[in-house]
Amino acid sequence: MKVLILGVNGFIGSHLSTRILGETDWTVYGMDLGDHKLKEVKGHKNFQFLEGDISINKEWIEYHIKKSDVVIPLVAIATPKTYIENPLSVFELDFEENLRIIRQCVKYHKRVIFPSTSEVYGMCPDEAFDEYASKLVLGPIPKQRWIYSCSKQLLDRVIWAYGSRGDLDFTLIRPFNWIGPRLDSLETAKEGSSRVVTQFIASLVYRQPIVLVDGGMQSRSFTYIDDGISALMKILKNEGGKASGQIFNIGNPANNITIGELADTLLKMFKQHPDHIKDPAYSEIVIQPAGDFYGEGYQDIQTRVPSIRNAHELLGWEPTVGLEEALKRTMDSFLEEIRNSNA
Ligand code: UGA
Repeated sequence: MKVLILGVNGFIGSHLSTRILGETDWTVYGMDLGDHKLKEVKGHKNFQFLEGDISINKEWIEYHIKKSDVVIPLVAIATPKTYIENPLSVFELDFEENLRIIRQCVKYHKRVIFPSTSEVYGMCPDEAFDEYASKLVLGPIPKQRWIYSCSKQLLDRVIWAYGSRGDLDFTLIRPFNWIGPRLDSLETAKEGSSRVVTQFIASLVYRQPIVLVDGGMQSRSFTYIDDGISALMKILKNEGGKASGQIFNIGNPANNITIGELADTLLKMFKQHPDHIKDPAYSEIVIQPAGDFYGEGYQDIQTRVPSIRNAHELLGWEPTVGLEEALKRTMDSFLEEIRNSNA
């Protein structure tokens, strides 16, 4: 099988290509702005990479869509700070650029696995979000945070419409706060624009305060990347066509935790880590209003727990990595990266 991964150097793309090339004889065509997360696969005989930009290298993309069996367009802005600071860039990249890719998949009859997001559920009050029953609840227009959710939701609807017309073989996946090595970077976290786990680890490393937005009572269900990739592999294999035309939440409901508890856990782990057990001082945990941290365009999601019934029933998939282990592996990988860069 030939798989085209756009955004192959990202968090999901880099882990997915490592797994595909390690476990199968499939070919991966990958494109991204850089290749620093691809050390494990660079030079592999079944890996072909182009350093490029999806808004520029359009001919390469069209040619490779034609050549591939399945397309996974992972290029997107996915950090909440950017939704507020640069909402139009989110619309242009996450919606407009990806719409072009989807249309080419329709044109050339290619299967697409598209990353939707847990964010499409927005402030849904359900205890566990269901792909086929939950309402998608967004805030008012001046709350610009929702442009990401709304862009992704519209693309989900476009894909669904092409699929229901019989013009597109698709699967929509909804990752729920996947974490692990290579999630964002400590460098972007320095500027405060990473997702929460990287942000907190960076704060610990650089002795900055850990900021709990609005007190840290909001919760997330963190999912270890290897579990997410296992689900993606099942979707790629698509035995019996069971993943076709489906939406799957890919998350770990057992790993639900408040952001305050997350901060306490990471601080404790950092203090016990051999590289830091003797540090003279550690970051403090502080509280900041959302408006000060993100700006007025922010609105939060208080609880976000996935129902994974569909992935379990159709794919036979279950997450296996518990929260402590997932956080430990994530922190260890960042600290090892720092150790190597200082060596
Ligand atoms: C994320 C992003 O929108 C996407 O990456 C993705 O589609 C989705 O969730 C997902 O991974 O499922 P969110 O979970 O709100 O959204 O993003 P984080 O930046 O990781 O924030 C999580 C929570 O921690 C939020 O309530 C935020 O207010 C809080 N937070 C964040 C803090 O309390 N302090 C910080 O320094 C950063």
